[in-house]
Amino acid sequence: KTIAVAMGGYSSEAAISLKSGEVVYKHLSANPEFKVYRAHILKDNWYIKTDSGLEFSIDKSNFSVDIEGQRVHFDCVFNTIHGTPGEDGLFQGYLQTLQIPQTACDYYQAALTFNKRDCISVLKAYGIQTAKNVYINKGDDIDTRAIVDHVGLPCFVKANRAGSSYGISKVKKEEDILSALEFSFKEDDEVIIESFLDGREVSVGVINIGHETQALPVTEIISENEFFDFEAKYLGKSQEITPANLSKEQTEEVQNLAVKIFKLLKLKGLTRSEFIFHNNQPHFLECNACPGLTEASILPQQAKAAGISLQELFTSAVEVAVK
Ligand code: DAL
Ligand code: MG
Repeated sequence: KTIAVAMGGYSSEAAISLKSGEVVYKHLSANPEFKVYRAHILKDNWYIKTDSGLEFSIDKSNFSVDIEGQRVHFDCVFNTIHGTPGEDGLFQGYLQTLQIPQTACDYYQAALTFNKRDCISVLKAYGIQTAKNVYINKGDDIDTRAIVDHVGLPCFVKANRAGSSYGISKVKKEEDILSALEFSFKEDDEVIIESFLDGREVSVGVINIGHETQALPVTEIISENEFFDFEAKYLGKSQEITPANLSKEQTEEVQNLAVKIFKLLKLKGLTRSEFIFHNNQPHFLECNACPGLTEASILPQQAKAAGISLQELFTSAVEVAVK
């Protein structure tokens, strides 16, 4: 099979995505069944990049490429784009229109999970517990008193459609809400403000492997910073404990909840959801449908803890996509 590992994207997360893509490229290339290419999907250019650094433009009309006189079409796209257009459904819709299988969930599921407000609203309707929130569009009149009355302090001000903690701040004083909103609006023109949930934070990978849906070992995140921000995620300012030191009951509860969410939202491939055990009950924060696969990312650590090699993990995502 000929596989393109799509990486990059148009958002602040592009640099992280290129790292995720390299990890997938390396492990899939080690599988002799696959001929693997890097597809850099950048705002100004889509191209295949070879090991020797040569770049060949992708023909967007059919997602093929001419490499030194030879036309290459892809049997599958391994989607490691974080943020737009690979995690919010645009790239999925494009590939679905061309009938090229890709490893992440479909366009609608991607658009839904990438929109924190909408994903929370759907899951709430199924009785899943979440933080209280307020949703704000750029240009709306802002009443900080009403926001604080609803969500309390501290609260989290988040870009509604972004990842890797870009555009997120923890706010402790009402007068800091406006500047936090400005910060979030750099990433997205929609913002969600959520109440702070006191409790232990955990991350649960859920994957399809061998056509079964399974939860991976749970990771507890203990950030040295005020929250699990970019520095905590990628620059070592946190402890990520896998498997988390939870009771058997708590582990099963949060794993079952993550699998329930995967099924309710009709997800596919490799995903990771975040929860806070608040008042001893898991509260859903968000679901990542194209989670980080860098050496520092959580899902690869969870797979290893489950005894699943990264080659096996990535190969299974391709098999599910092309089935
Ligand atoms: N958005 C980052 C890549 C993650 O969820 O891992
Ligand atoms: Mg995220």
